[in-house]
Amino acid sequence: MSSLIELSHVSRSFQVNRNVRINALDDFSLSIDEGEIVCIVGESGCGKTTAGKIISGLLNPSSGQVFYRGQDISKMSSEVFHQYRLGVQMIHQDPYASLNPARTVLQQLAAPLSRHIITSGKASLVRDRAFELLELVELTPAQDFLDKYPHQLSGGQRQRVSIARSLTVTPSFIVADEAVSMVDVSIRISLLKTLLRLKEKMGLAVLFITHDLALAKYFAWEGRIGVMYLGRLVEISPARQLIEAPQHPYTKILLSALPEADPKITRQKQHIALRSTDIPSLLSIPPGCPFHPRCPAFAGEICQGKIPILTYYSETSAVACHPVTQAHSLAKAGSIGS
Ligand SMILES: Nc1ncnc2c1ncn2[C@@H]1O[C@H](COP(=O)(O)OP(=O)(O)O)[C@@H](O)[C@H]1O
Ligand code: SF4
Ligand SMILES: [Mg+2]
Repeated sequence: MSSLIELSHVSRSFQVNRNVRINALDDFSLSIDEGEIVCIVGESGCGKTTAGKIISGLLNPSSGQVFYRGQDISKMSSEVFHQYRLGVQMIHQDPYASLNPARTVLQQLAAPLSRHIITSGKASLVRDRAFELLELVELTPAQDFLDKYPHQLSGGQRQRVSIARSLTVTPSFIVADEAVSMVDVSIRISLLKTLLRLKEKMGLAVLFITHDLALAKYFAWEGRIGVMYLGRLVEISPARQLIEAPQHPYTKILLSALPEADPKITRQKQHIALRSTDIPSLLSIPPGCPFHPRCPAFAGEICQGKIPILTYYSETSAVACHPVTQAHSLAKAGSIGS
């Protein structure tokens, strides 16, 4: 059976000035199944939003292929492409920017409902459906919210309206790009719980994009986490495995900085130091492994000379690191030989 969405060796570059192009996404491959949760984590500027936009059909790749339900999106008829664009909805970081300040909540929801779903456009049907959607995203009593403007809502409530709007077109897949990072810390978890409940109730697949590994861990515990570094996916695994047995040196560093609920465990945690504290930049990606100038596990010539390719060492887990991949190959050869 084909995946819901698949990116195969996708790269995307941007011209940043007359002479300079940057590779925001490089050789990025990922497939996501119906109903699955995947989280992409990585520091700011590593290409997460670019990946999310390509997955949602908002941005074309410079090279590589994107498949939706097994069909290459670059070869779709405009009708099928339209269905794909409705099927994959992106929720952005800033709900205030993505909502029209001059429209009430009902009007924000009514526009896509009338366009795509209720073709007869009967006002009472649209209002009923808008009401249901607000209940679904837990903006209750819905009646109190339908006629409000975005500025009359809190950040968390606005984000719930954005989520409700993305659901107007009954998508199969939500791409939530830093969807809770602009709301108060105190209501982040409640928004994440709403997203998880919607996922269960509607059988949605969710790609959750964040710079915060703690949020990734919470949200994707039943799914997979992928770690990005300078435009590349450097590790992907089921969440529990990635958290309990990280393979890539960069993942280990992110985890070593993760605060634990129990302060005793935080104190006992080994802090891993970087080889260099220089801030990485897409304007000057180091040769070989892009992480090599900072990597505490730096293994010499091979790391400087050759880009490590994301390699699956089990059915579900992959890593892009020369010595780690070598160790897995040796372990596999050993187990076959014995
Ligand atoms: N439209 C664009 N034009 C030029 N550069 C862009 C554009 N979109 C993103 N970039 C650059 O691509 C890199 C990755 O950006 P982005 O995908 O937004 O990263 P993230 O979401 O991980 O912070 C950044 O250096 C960013 O400045
Ligand atoms: S390939 Fe080398 S430099 Fe890159 S992460 Fe692995 S050990 Fe570090
Ligand atoms: Mg981003």
